[in-house]
Amino acid sequence: MPNERFESRKADHLRLALEPAMDAQENSLDGIHLFHDALPELNFADIELASKFWRYEAASPFFFSSMTAGHHKGEALNLTLAKVAAKRRWPMGVGSQRRELTDPAAASEWARLRKAAPDACLFSNIGLSQLITTPPQKVLALVDTLEAAALIVHTNPMQEALQPEGTPQFQGGLKALEKICHSSKVPVILKETGCGFSSASLKKIRAKIAALDVGGYGGTHWGRIEGGRAAATSHQQLAALTFARWGESTADSLLNAVHWRQKRSLEIWASGGIRSGLDAAKALAMGAEKVGFAKPALEQALLGEEALDKWMGRMEFELKVALFCSGAKRPEALRKGKRWQKI
Ligand SMILES: Cc1cc2nc3c(=O)[nH]c(=O)nc-3n(C[C@H](O)[C@H](O)[C@H](O)COP(=O)(O)O)c2cc1C
Repeated sequence: MPNERFESRKADHLRLALEPAMDAQENSLDGIHLFHDALPELNFADIELASKFWRYEAASPFFFSSMTAGHHKGEALNLTLAKVAAKRRWPMGVGSQRRELTDPAAASEWARLRKAAPDACLFSNIGLSQLITTPPQKVLALVDTLEAAALIVHTNPMQEALQPEGTPQFQGGLKALEKICHSSKVPVILKETGCGFSSASLKKIRAKIAALDVGGYGGTHWGRIEGGRAAATSHQQLAALTFARWGESTADSLLNAVHWRQKRSLEIWASGGIRSGLDAAKALAMGAEKVGFAKPALEQALLGEEALDKWMGRMEFELKVALFCSGAKRPEALRKGKRWQKI
């Protein structure tokens, strides 16, 4: 794809993602109630959020969900995110590295990011539809450029179907995923980008993924965003209205994933509409090990490093409050016993 078109698509994504109308209009986590523990037998100061992302000792179970790059504003944003992520010890998923597959200049952008944040725990990112057509060694070179701790493969059939220049080609995706898991030295994570996973989709996965990020419906919705980019009255624009509520909610995707993983050794991660430390606590109580934020982090990064840093502190504080008032000393304790109900 010519670079100018790529660049303008990424700039459109960034602009549209910030519009409230591009979010799912309902969030399943609002329908989850965490039980209050009036007798927590804990001191607030003893609450511990520290969490391990493989060898990386993170401050909490939080990470920045993969976000865009590949346009002039993208690099500055990624630098802000990576610097503050390293400082606060949150891992960070970078946006799709697809461009690097065809444009060598993109590799130097990632090398600059790594140089600016040498201690950051970064995750590479590539789309499943690119994985199908790219030799594994070329994909793994993306991980090397970034010195990434893991590789995230995103699946996004709704977005590709509604994107005017999309690549809605997913045939061979499951095999490609198995192949990359087989060849990769770093853990591979499979994620959706806001439409979640049904039980039927999960049953198809044979690949040895290290984590599944449910990326459920409830926050940023890529059907809406591609509809917002499409020409007026085009099929894509009108179909985006029809499919504005398409997807498996984050809560349902989590329940599906927790049930599916019973005999497997992998982590379940939650993202898609996580907007507060309380949302994160709900996801953790429902069985997630890690929790990702995309749009809320982007909004703060646009305001600058200080705003982002402060917001991250607030998310951690809110999670601590939820843990304290649930009587759980650590995030993993939230998963012990049933501490929530659907309302
Ligand atoms: C501006 C923007 C760009 C994104 N680019 C990517 C991407 O390149 N790769 C990917 O896996 N997900 C991408 N996502 C999806 C997010 O990682 C996340 O799955 C989705 O936005 C839902 O999370 P949220 O509701 O917290 O925004 C992007 C999200 C935003 C807001």
